This record gives sequence, C-alpha cells and structure tokens, in this order.
Amino acid sequence: MMFRGFLFCFLLYLNGGWCKRTQQIRSFPDGFLFGAATAAYQIEGGWYEDGKGLSIWDIATHTVPSPIKDGSTGDVSADSYHLYKRDVELMKELGIDFYRFSVSWSRILPNGFADKINQPGLDYYNNLINEMLDNNITPFVTIYHWDLPYNLQKLGGWTNPLIVEWFRDYAKILFDRFGDRVKFWMTINEPKQICYEGYGSDLKAPFLNATGIAEYICAKNILLAHAKVYHLYDESYRKIQNGTIGISLSCTWYEPASDTSDDHQAAVDARQFDWGQYAHPIFSNAGDFPAEVKQNIALKSAEQSFPKSRLPEMSAAEVALIRGSSDFFGINSYTTKLTYRDASLEGMYPVPSYMDDMGAVMIKDPSWTQAQSTWLQEVPWGFYKLLVEVRNLYDNPPVYITENGWSTAGGLLDEGRISYYRSYLTALLDALDEGCDVKAYTAWSLIDNFEWKNGYTEKFGLYEVDFSSPELTRRPRKSAHIYKEIIRSRQLNLNYEPEDFIHEHDVKEKGA
Ligand SMILES: *[C@@H]1O[C@H](CO)[C@@H](O)[C@H](O)[C@H]1NC(C)=O
Ligand SMILES: *[C@@H]1O[C@H](CO)[C@@H](O)[C@H](O)[C@H]1NC(C)=O
Repeated sequence: MMFRGFLFCFLLYLNGGWCKRTQQIRSFPDGFLFGAATAAYQIEGGWYEDGKGLSIWDIATHTVPSPIKDGSTGDVSADSYHLYKRDVELMKELGIDFYRFSVSWSRILPNGFADKINQPGLDYYNNLINEMLDNNITPFVTIYHWDLPYNLQKLGGWTNPLIVEWFRDYAKILFDRFGDRVKFWMTINEPKQICYEGYGSDLKAPFLNATGIAEYICAKNILLAHAKVYHLYDESYRKIQNGTIGISLSCTWYEPASDTSDDHQAAVDARQFDWGQYAHPIFSNAGDFPAEVKQNIALKSAEQSFPKSRLPEMSAAEVALIRGSSDFFGINSYTTKLTYRDASLEGMYPVPSYMDDMGAVMIKDPSWTQAQSTWLQEVPWGFYKLLVEVRNLYDNPPVYITENGWSTAGGLLDEGRISYYRSYLTALLDALDEGCDVKAYTAWSLIDNFEWKNGYTEKFGLYEVDFSSPELTRRPRKSAHIYKEIIRSRQLNLNYEPEDFIHEHDVKEKGA
C-alpha cells in the first residue's frame, strides 16, 4: 500500500507536481458548506411571461440563423419558473446546505431601469426563497449571471460607464426586497466570460466581437459596478441584514507546457489575463490591473499605433474603491490548460485582441480525460495548484468554490462525473491540508440546463431533466447519490457505492 501510494505520487509528480493522497476516507472540516448552483436564463423558462422584459440571451436565441449549436432557446428550458417547488425537493433530497441561483434582471426591471418594478418577478423569487427557507436550504443569490436587459445592451451594455449606476439601482432593489432573508450575495458571475467572450469575441451574447477594445472597457466597468454594489451593501445593509457579499471569477489553471522561462512566463501571463485581471484589482494589496496585463497591452497598443493603451486606466480613487471590495473569493473552476509562448503568433489571433495581447497559446494534454464539452478535461492537480496560487498571491483569502462540474452527453449512470467530483474534492482536501481557507463547495449544476451556445448538447446536472417530456421530469443521476452521501457524512469515501441506485437502475433497464 505504501509502495503503491509512493509510486502513484511519483508518477503524478512527473505530471504536474501534485501528489494525490491514497487515503480512501477523508473528512471535511466543521462548518464546511456544500451546495449546488444554477443560473436564471439556463433553467427558468418563462422568457416572456408575467411582464418580464427581454434579455440579450432572449434576443440571441431568437436570431435567425440561430447562433446556438442545436438551434434551441431557453424559452422553456427546465421551466423552473413554474417547477421551482420540485427543484427545492431535489435540494432537500440531496441535503445541500445552500443553493446558488441567479436573479433575472429583466424579470425584476423589464426595461433594465429602476423606474418600473415588475411585481410578478419579485413574487417568483420571494416564493423560491421562502420555499427554500421552509426546507432549511440557505439561498445564495447571484445578482448578475449574464442575462443583461436588452434595453441596456442597446445603450452599449457593459461598455457604457453609466451601467455602474444602473447595476447599483438594480442591486439595491434586491437588497431591499430579499435581503431580510438572503445572507449570501454574489454581485457578478465570471466577468471574464462576460467581457472577453461577450464583447471581445463572438462566443457569448451580445457577440460584439470588438476584439482588443471592448473587453477592456467592460472589465473596468464591471469592476466598478461590482465595487459600488459591494460598498452599498457594506455601508447601508450589512449592519441590519448581517450578510456576506463577494464576486466569482472563472479560474482556469495554466501550466507551463515546458520548463523554458518563456513558457513559464506565458503561463503567468495567461493566469493574469484570465483571472488576475479581476482578482488583482480586488484581492491584492496594491490593487489596479496586474502589471503583466498593463505592460502587454501597452506594448502591443504602441506597436499598433494606438495613441494610448487600449486598457483603460484606473484613477487612484477607482483603485481604492475596488481594492478589498469582496468578503470572499468566489472561484468557478473546471479545468487546466498547457501554455506556451509562440513569438510570432502569426495568423493565430485577430489583431488587436485579448488573445494576441496575452501572447500565449493553450493546448490540452491528450492523455487527460475529456468531458462532453470540448474545453473541459479532468485535471485535479491543476485545481490544487490554483487554490495554492490564490492563497499565495492574495494573502489566503476566504474562498468559496462557487462552481465545479462535469458534462456528459446524458444518461443516469454518470461514472465520468463521479470520478471528476471525487478527484476534485480530493484536490480540495489537499489544498485545505496546505492551509488554503476554502469554506464552501458548489456543484455545477443541480439540474440539466441550457448550456449557452451549446444549447442542450451538454448535460451538467446532478439531476437529469427529460426535456422531451411535457413534465420536464427530473431524475437523480448516480452522481447525485454519491454527492448526497458526501454531504450526509461530511466525508469523501472513494469506495462508496449507492446500492439503491444500482437496484433501481437495474429494474428500470430490465423493465424497459
Ligand atoms: C451574523 O451572522 C453571523 C454568522 O454569519 C452570526 O454568527 C451572528 O450571530 C449574526 N449576528 C446577528 C446580529 O444576527
Ligand atoms: C471578429 O473580429 C475579428 C477581427 O478582430 C475577425 O477576424 C473575425 O472574423 C470576427 N468574427 C466574426 C464572427 O465576425
């Protein structure tokens, strides 16, 4: 056993320096919280009901020809707008401590502005929150998860500096109406995906593709909008409502593809562009955008004859407003990329662009286990390294893992997802052993949902949703049974097998 453990460690040492412990049962610390997450546009449906206004994703999915892989929409999706009581039953069955969901801005404010509040929208979230509290599930509310009111997009969306005030007005309504019962708030989910994928490329709505320009304007406005809402809560609500508020960044681990100093720097640059761009202004002592990001963009901008850097500057007052504006570091993490430097980058990326400014090339190791999503591979040691790096860079902030999960093509027997959850939770426990201050873990996702540009072709749910049935039937996958036992026992037992599930499944297969 000792020898096998040693050999395993040695092999993994060659593959990234992470040594997986071979203990079969490990405990989570007292007070560690488990949850599951979703986002409004991905599950709610009710896209044009009860006074809801249109969002950029309503517009995107109704564009002809459709930009969505299977031509689908979130018009109905899992219909959580009507089936939320069933969703709360699933939460209770799983035994999760908290449920992270997002509020649809245009369901509350149909035009995006705070002049007209849509009462049925407030009713929906009040009902959901009350149903959760009746079942001892703590609500964790994401204020913005990508579904910007289309009315605000017409005015430039996140590239218009006035959005800082529009977002603050919207958030204030949520604090006023839900803050008596909601104690966990997240301002914005994944700024990089909003800014780079939505504005600096054509990967997400609004598909602006103003490469090398709009993603940086968006980045500054998002940081300011987040910070204003943080301070609003901190100054006007915290004393009465006693909650906690932060932001979530999507953090991929970038591993140098070789030992050269060039590849090492490429990996550092990739981390700083991908999440440092948002983490450094908020969580570092110095504040402001990271040096690597400022230098690379300034240099390329000068080469390209821009009169000044395409990255907007922050004033000293803005740096101070943003620095320290989060009670926790929310991490959404899924995978790892090998990173190398290619001096020419000839023809590889548009010029100017975020990818060209970063000057790094990312590849995957073909030996890594592949999910249904092309971008997702199982690399638990990368998750471990990420957590240790966050501890080192930002003075060991309290970390909530606010998303982590695996996609399949479907089916109830999801061994790939089970392997992924087990290996990533093992990495998390190893990071705790290294002193990382991780306080919570959130599985993405509670149920199958609309996976943005990939429609319904990728399933992330612990619960399957049968999108072909009129009832949109939810059924637990094998991984739901595994996660349930982890939460019940507050332990990770790599050998646990859910007997009931196997039995039910066998019966179903034989009966079919
Ligand atoms: C505020 O919340 C903390 C835990 O988050 C709790 O320990 C404390 O008792 C609460 N205080 C009040 C006044 O509710
Ligand atoms: C996005 O913009 C770049 C130029 O910056 C261009 O090369 C590319 O074709 C555009 N993509 C689409 C889908 O229009």
